[in-house]
Amino acid sequence: MSTLVTNIGVLVTHDGPERQNAALVIDSGAIAWVGAASDAPAADASIDAGGRCVVPGFVDSHSHLMFAGDRADEFEERMAGRRYEAGGIRRTVGATRKATDDELLANATTLVAEMRAQGTTTVEIKTGYGLTVDDEARSARLARTLTSEVTFLGAHLVPDGVSRDEYLDLVTGRMLDACAPFVKWIDVFCDRGAFDESEARRIIVAGRAKGLGVRMHGAQLAASGAVRLAVELDAASVDHCTFLERADIDALVSGSTVATLLPGAEFSTRSPYPNARRLIDAGATVAIASDCNPGSSFTTSMPFCIAVAVREMGMTPAEALWSATLGGARALRRTDIGHLAVGANADLVVIDAPSYVHLAYRPGVPLVRQVLTGGQVLINEVREGRGDPINEVGLGRAASQ
Ligand code: NIG
Ligand code: FE
Repeated sequence: MSTLVTNIGVLVTHDGPERQNAALVIDSGAIAWVGAASDAPAADASIDAGGRCVVPGFVDSHSHLMFAGDRADEFEERMAGRRYEAGGIRRTVGATRKATDDELLANATTLVAEMRAQGTTTVEIKTGYGLTVDDEARSARLARTLTSEVTFLGAHLVPDGVSRDEYLDLVTGRMLDACAPFVKWIDVFCDRGAFDESEARRIIVAGRAKGLGVRMHGAQLAASGAVRLAVELDAASVDHCTFLERADIDALVSGSTVATLLPGAEFSTRSPYPNARRLIDAGATVAIASDCNPGSSFTTSMPFCIAVAVREMGMTPAEALWSATLGGARALRRTDIGHLAVGANADLVVIDAPSYVHLAYRPGVPLVRQVLTGGQVLINEVREGRGDPINEVGLGRAASQ
């Protein structure tokens, strides 16, 4: 079953320059052909993009969806001047432990649905609000039902009632063993008030010995050696990068670790934004992700993150789009997503605008009109009174592939 997506006003593939008046063909869930709409081959079904812009689906490479409860009160206090601290995590840990499996999964499922509706086609999900062997293992197990990109973040904080030494033994021992079957990655919150560099090194080395890939939270709250440690340990990504020193940037440029920026976190904690311009100009690879969590960044919207990155971090709209798609794929060390070259997954978004620039130019406006993942139409939104409805026949056939 093949599907032609045609009449694309602007097509961004990240495989060559953007194309005008373009089309693409999807076959067996992958991109099979890209070219001028006038040259498009016949296909079994068709989708008329109506002159709109088509971009790769967003790759949200950093989220914490396995939680219960809400911390709107903390947000409100921060907006009145209180500082964000790592310790807020404890409140969510309490609520998460009390939640049933069904409640935890339902909450995460709702958040994934929100993400999809806003164009996210791949999401990474971290554990980290259970912090007991059983609670971390169930978060990992439930997250695994939603995505293949699951990360063990037992090292989010030392929970109450356990000594630091005991907890480090657990995270590198029984808790890791219990989570490893469900996860692909290990992560450590290496920052002021969380874990220091020697603790982080021990945790990551243990995770690697279990065959897990490495990701790190670093430099969210203060400058430290976390970013350099991440590069040294060949982490796929070091995330936040809010307080960077020159040596951190040099390390990122010399290594293969992606710097993942989380605009929602600075927005929601009223912190200074990282300077993406400086990173990009130095030659670092930069990704953007939502960091969706109830404490520091309760957004599921990659378009929102793109808009903030453009407005506050010195990125051009094209750079922010790249970072939210192919940058995220690099942060997950995936080559099948984040771009629309022939052979890549057919994960794409039809934006209800003539250009992707509108993602930043029209902040807060629901511009995601259609989302396809693996060629399947997930979201098919026809917004009343806003132009021609999309070819419903083609859509119906595409959806039943
Ligand atoms: O990425 N930095 C550590 N973890 C989350 C915040 C968690 C929380 O406050 O609940 C983050 O911002
Ligand atoms: Fe995070």
